[in-house]
Amino acid sequence: MCGIVGYIGTEDARGIILNGLKRLEYRGYDSAGITLFNGDDDTFHVYKDKGRVAHLEEITDFSYRSVLGIGHTRWATHGVPNQINSHPQSSDSGRFFVVHNGVIDNYKELITSHLNESVFASDTDTEVIAHLIEKFSYRMSVSEAIRKTMSLLEGSYALAIIDTYNPYKLYACKNKSPLVIGVGDNGVVVASDVMACVGYSDKFVPLEDKTFVEIDGATYRIMDIIGKVVPHVEKPIDVDYFNIEKGEYSHFMLKEINEQPAVLRNIIGAYFDGDEVLLNGEIQQAIRDSDRLYIVAAGTSMNAGQIGRELFEKMAGIPTEVHIASEFAYNLPLLSKNPLFIFISQSGETADLRAVLVNIKAKGYRSLTITNVKTSTLAREADHFVEILAGPEIAVASTKAYTAQIAILAILAYGLSDKHINLRKELSKVAISMENIIDKRDYIDKLVKDYLTKRNCFYIGRGIDYYGCLESSLKLKEISYIQTEGFAAGELKHGTIALIEQDTPVIAIISQRAIAKNTRSNLNEVKSRGAKTLVIATRGVHEPDDQIVVDDVYELFSPMLTVVPAQFIAYYAALHRGYDIDKPRNLAKSVTVE
Ligand code: AGP
Ligand code: GLU
Repeated sequence: MCGIVGYIGTEDARGIILNGLKRLEYRGYDSAGITLFNGDDDTFHVYKDKGRVAHLEEITDFSYRSVLGIGHTRWATHGVPNQINSHPQSSDSGRFFVVHNGVIDNYKELITSHLNESVFASDTDTEVIAHLIEKFSYRMSVSEAIRKTMSLLEGSYALAIIDTYNPYKLYACKNKSPLVIGVGDNGVVVASDVMACVGYSDKFVPLEDKTFVEIDGATYRIMDIIGKVVPHVEKPIDVDYFNIEKGEYSHFMLKEINEQPAVLRNIIGAYFDGDEVLLNGEIQQAIRDSDRLYIVAAGTSMNAGQIGRELFEKMAGIPTEVHIASEFAYNLPLLSKNPLFIFISQSGETADLRAVLVNIKAKGYRSLTITNVKTSTLAREADHFVEILAGPEIAVASTKAYTAQIAILAILAYGLSDKHINLRKELSKVAISMENIIDKRDYIDKLVKDYLTKRNCFYIGRGIDYYGCLESSLKLKEISYIQTEGFAAGELKHGTIALIEQDTPVIAIISQRAIAKNTRSNLNEVKSRGAKTLVIATRGVHEPDDQIVVDDVYELFSPMLTVVPAQFIAYYAALHRGYDIDKPRNLAKSVTVE
């Protein structure tokens, strides 16, 4: 959600910023903008508009040399996406330019208390920040004016700031929203994500909350809000940029679905020594020491968490609860005596999870983050973290991160189980079976043409398949915009069956022997009311008419397999409707506001 890229140094700021913004596009946005310093005649220029970075590139003047600038992709929270509301926003006189990721909760109060005289051009909360900095800069240094402004802001912000009176400095600060600085031989990059620094910086420094950084091209100083220098560590950047190219695939989502067997093998390679699990002993101990696990997550990661609960309870016998982060953050339930909090997040930046982490840390509870981004905020701030090793996931709709998260949860649970299965072998079987499904994707494409002809759809299943239905339905709705719900099959007749009419698509997932018959009965109930049904079943429980049959694997792992056809169903449904598959409307990859 939103991307910030700023640069000061001796290289081409425009190229670095535009490239950086392109690499952050996957996070989701609706407008893009840039302020550049023209080193040829000492002037500043702003280019911004609603729409894509490609459009920003078209309206940007490339004729002059620029070594300082700030750029932004906006995901509107205050004010519609349009040219005026796009960032950078500027102060009253135009002296300061600001790009902002986050939400200022008290912006109205700040207008009343400090900015009665100011004239506002936009509807954004961000503009308040620019006006405040200018107002304070009349009676203090720019560094003090920004820090004074920070002390008044309530909410979340990552900011990059330019003072047009001093083109030799770039300023940045943050609270809650992510921001890193990338350090290279020829300049310093400020960005929402390390990804934007790759190629221009060889080291990076993640900024802590309520810190401020003052940068000239060669050096930088990180301070706290009162101006005291904060110690920091520069970390090497080892992201392989080529991993984030689409290659032969038409969409990142298609590439990422296809990468799942390789990801699983990668995980097996990293977390096994022979048949033994290789895991940091402290993490195993932390799980062992807890009397209850609290999984906290959002969206797809929460759907993986539901499978995680099954794995922890059924394989390892550890009581586990799963919670929606945004609900949990400000409404803690009665907790057990020795809880361990497990945060599952592909991006490691989801603001709803961060709010819970801050809250439970303050109470002295222990935490573990399971993430795909080891440099992320949630990885840094939890007591422990485990990497899911899925490689960069760019499509907004999460696919390979989901199956990788389940594999990691299985590895964590297995360490404390009676080891009645050979986990390495079982996971390898899943990887092979995934390949078998991927080979049949053209067939799934045909099914989609026949079945998904309506504006709505239902996924039904029981037990672990129900959790698979939640993920499968989320996939379909987020990219094809078909209104899709995942239901516990037996619950349908308690109300929702009223929505079934002639040709309503109902997709059943059936993989568990003990409850297969029950789901079949529920399927018959909807069929007799006109539904057009499609079944995804595992071989052991399949029936001759089932359309998609996947291999049998260890029962608790079947969601890693049955989700693959569902991912293809979503992909082809969106493709046939001509939608932007990798960047669906209104959604962001990294949801950095609460
Ligand atoms: C997945 O397809 C979604 N776009 C979304 O639900 C996502 O899983 C959610 O926002 C959580 O993100 P995270 O895993 O990065 O924390
Ligand atoms: N709240 C700001 C706005 O609506 C920033 C949004 C963002 O993070 O992109 O302009």
